[in-house]
Order: sequence, then structure tokens, then C-alpha cells
Amino acid sequence: MKNKVIFMSFGILIFFSTFTYAAGRKIVPGDIIFTAPVKSVIFSHEIHVNKEHISCNICHSTIFNTRALNLQKNKNFNMKSFCKGRYCGVCHNGKIAFSVKTQCARCHIGVRGFERSDRAVKIPKMSSFMPKNALKFGTGNFEAVFSHKKHIGVHCNNCHTKIFPFKYTVGSITMNAIKNGQYCGKCHNGKIAFSAINCLICHSKLSKQNRHTAKH
Ligand code: HEC
Ligand code: HEC
Ligand code: HEC
Ligand code: HEC
Ligand code: HEC
Ligand code: HEC
Repeated sequence: MKNKVIFMSFGILIFFSTFTYAAGRKIVPGDIIFTAPVKSVIFSHEIHVNKEHISCNICHSTIFNTRALNLQKNKNFNMKSFCKGRYCGVCHNGKIAFSVKTQCARCHIGVRGFERSDRAVKIPKMSSFMPKNALKFGTGNFEAVFSHKKHIGVHCNNCHTKIFPFKYTVGSITMNAIKNGQYCGKCHNGKIAFSAINCLICHSKLSKQNRHTAKH
């Protein structure tokens, strides 16, 4: 009985020593860049294994097999499945790791140099990933609302990520910048879309305020 305990703790000792040795720094395959259905999504073993300390057997072979670019042959290796918790979505669900519904550009390195993914990504596919609710900038009477729905005819690539990041960052846009042709002003210049002189279209609270004061 005593011998058995000693034997067992010895076993645990060996187990731990190999584990810590391995957790120190594992030799891992290089980055995998998926090319289909869209170019270029990055998967880094270095980050998942050596930085996040996820052991091989969590992913292999329960979620992924060990052959690069094999997954992308599956018809359902797409965002819809991820959102339902398959493949990358097993962890990238907003609980274990950042959700596949956010931070698109962290996985889609292609969007940093938009030209590459431009041809591959079609609007109908992308539109299911755009925010459903309008985004509000600023507070008070000069609050401005940006609605993706109202821009449905404009290709994602025209705004992301050349003008705006794939992330809601309140406070970065100013009226001066818009008047100087930046942000919304890239289009709202009277040529591509109504100009920035039309204050009330964007600052709709202001128009309500005006109507209110007009009554008195
Ligand atoms: C977070 C999940 C995850 C972890 C952890 C992980 N892998 Fe992978 N691994 C993947 C994915 C995804 C692929 C690509 C599969 C594909 O493209 O079909 C892959 C591919 C591979 C490949 C093929 C690479 C090539 O270039 O052909 C090998 C080998 C591999 N993994 C070994 C490992 C080893 C060894 C570990 C532990 C040290 C490990 N993996 C940990 C997800 C993971
Ligand atoms: C077993 C869980 C797991 C799976 C499966 C998984 N990831 Fe991750 N991933 C993580 C964790 C944990 C982090 C770090 C936490 C965070 O930043 O939210 C991370 C971080 C990342 C990052 C950020 C790297 C950086 O620059 O910091 C990218 C990109 C990424 N994963 C892509 C993928 C892709 C693509 C897949 C599917 C092929 C995948 N992951 C599958 C757990 C996982
Ligand atoms: C955790 C990593 C990850 C995040 C975050 C992520 N994606 Fe993906 N995405 C992938 C992977 C992996 C594929 C499949 C491989 C490929 O197409 O290269 C993919 C494929 C796609 C596709 C083509 C297939 C399909 O489902 O139609 C589109 C479009 C897409 N992503 C859009 C987005 C948008 C928009 C966001 C942000 C809301 C986003 N993705 C966030 C990993 C990610
Ligand atoms: C195309 C849409 C659009 C139009 C048109 C527009 N604005 Fe703005 N405006 C914004 C946005 C977006 C912000 C940023 C809100 C924030 O984060 O504070 C803003 C901010 C402001 C602010 C807050 C302070 C500052 O300078 O950032 C004032 C004041 C303002 N606008 C006045 C005006 C006036 C006056 C007009 C008409 C001459 C006008 N705006 C037309 C979108 C617009
Ligand atoms: C006319 C410009 C424009 C177009 C076109 C556009 N967006 Fe956006 N998008 C924005 C702005 C503005 C923001 C907020 C950026 C900020 O806060 O700095 C944003 C933010 C986002 C966010 C982050 C939301 C959050 O809550 O973090 C996602 C995801 C997104 N857009 C997806 C898409 C997708 C997918 C498409 C194409 C179907 C698209 N967008 C088309 C202007 C645009
Ligand atoms: C890539 C070009 C582009 C950018 C950038 C852009 N818009 Fe637009 N926007 C358009 C187009 C095109 C229309 C529709 C044509 C028109 O009304 O002139 C439009 C329409 C609108 C409308 C009118 C919706 C309606 O019908 O009531 C509002 C409000 C608006 N944009 C606000 C904004 C705000 C706020 C920003 C910045 C956060 C912004 N837009 C950035 C191109 C753009």
C-alpha cells in the first residue's frame, strides 16, 4: 500500500516535470494562413500554445486534425459555424477568448491591406456581421448616429478599415475632422453623399430640439 503511494507520487512527479518542461516553450508549427473561402485568416500555434498555454490535445484531434489547410476544404468552415460554436468558435465565443463576432481584423489579417480580400468578400455574406443597432457618437444635442443599415449600398471595404476600424471606439471622430474630409467627411462632402452642411440629418436630436423650441 505504502509502496503504491510512493510509486504514484513518483509518477505525478514525472508527469509534472515533463509538463513544466513542455510548458516552458514548445516547438510548434509555423503560422497557418487560411486562404478559403476568404484570404487571409491567421492561426498562430505560437500564441495558442506558448502564450495561452493551450495543450495540443485540447485541439488535436477533437477540434482540428494536424494537417495545414485541411479544414478549409470543409464546406462549413465558415463564420456561421463559428458563431454556432464549431471549430474556432469552440473558444472564440466571448467567454474563453474574444468572440468571432468582434475584432474581425485580429483573425482576418487580410483586411489590414484591404485590396487582397476585396475581391473574395461579397457584401451579402458580410452584411450578417455588421452591427444591427445604430452606433451613437457623442452625447447631448450634438449626438450623431451612424446606422449601418442606412449604408447598406456601400461596400464594407470602402469604410473598413481604411476610414474606420472594425471596432466601436467612441470619441475618435470630431466635427472639424469631418469638415476637413476625414471620417464621415470622406463621403459626406456633397459629391459622394449629402454634405456636412446638412447638420440635422446626422444630428437628429438637434432637429427635435428645434421643433420643440419652435412650438413655444
Ligand atoms: C488552439 C488550437 C490548437 C492547439 C492548441 C494546437 N493546434 Fe496544431 N493546429 C491547429 C489548427 C487550426 C491547425 C490547422 C488545421 C488545418 O488547417 O486543417 C493545426 C495544424 C497543426 C499541424 C500541421 C501543421 C502543418 O504545417 O502542416 C501540426 C503538426 C500541429 N497542428 C501540431 C500541434 C502540436 C504539436 C501542438 C501542441 C504543441 C498543437 N498543434 C496545438 C490548432 C491547434
Ligand atoms: C481551445 C481554444 C481555442 C481555439 C479552438 C482557437 N483559439 Fe484562438 N485564442 C484562444 C485564446 C485563449 C486566445 C487568447 C485570448 C484572447 O485574446 O481573447 C486566442 C487568441 C487568438 C488570436 C489573437 C492572437 C493575438 O494576436 O493576440 C487569434 C488571431 C486567434 N486566436 C485565431 C484563432 C483561429 C483562426 C482559430 C481557429 C482556426 C482559433 N483561434 C481557435 C483560444 C482558442
Ligand atoms: C477567431 C478568428 C476569427 C474572427 C474573430 C473572425 N473571423 Fe471571419 N473567418 C475566420 C476563419 C478561420 C474563416 C474561414 C477561413 C477562411 O475563409 O480563410 C473565416 C471566414 C470568414 C468569411 C468567409 C466565410 C463566410 O463565413 O462567409 C467572412 C465573410 C468572414 N470571415 C467575416 C468576418 C467578420 C465580418 C468578422 C468580424 C465580425 C470575422 N470574420 C471575425 C476567423 C475569424
Ligand atoms: C455626416 C454626418 C454629420 C453631419 C452632416 C454633421 N455632423 Fe457634426 N458630428 C458628426 C459626428 C459623427 C460627430 C462626432 C460626435 C462625437 O463623438 O462627439 C459630430 C460632432 C459634432 C459636434 C461636437 C463637437 C465636435 O466638434 O466634435 C458639434 C458641435 C457638431 N458636430 C456640429 C455640427 C454642425 C453645426 C453641423 C452642420 C454644419 C454638423 N455637425 C454636421 C457627424 C455629422
Ligand atoms: C459608411 C461606412 C461604413 C460601412 C460601409 C460599413 N461600416 Fe462598419 N462601421 C462604421 C463605423 C463608423 C463604425 C464605428 C467605428 C468607430 O467607432 O470608430 C463601424 C463599426 C463596425 C463594427 C464594430 C461594431 C462594434 O460594436 O464594435 C463592425 C463589426 C462593422 N462595422 C462591420 C461592418 C460590416 C460587416 C460592413 C459591411 C457589410 C460594414 N461594417 C460596413 C462604418 C461603416
Ligand atoms: C464611404 C462613404 C460614406 C461614409 C464614410 C459615410 N457615409 Fe453616410 N452615407 C453615404 C451614402 C452613399 C449615403 C446615401 C446617399 C445620401 O444620402 O447622400 C449615406 C447616408 C447617410 C445618412 C442618411 C440616412 C438616411 O437616409 O436618413 C446618414 C445620417 C449618414 N450617412 C451618416 C453618416 C455618418 C454619421 C458617418 C460617419 C460616422 C457616415 N455617414 C459615413 C456614404 C458614406
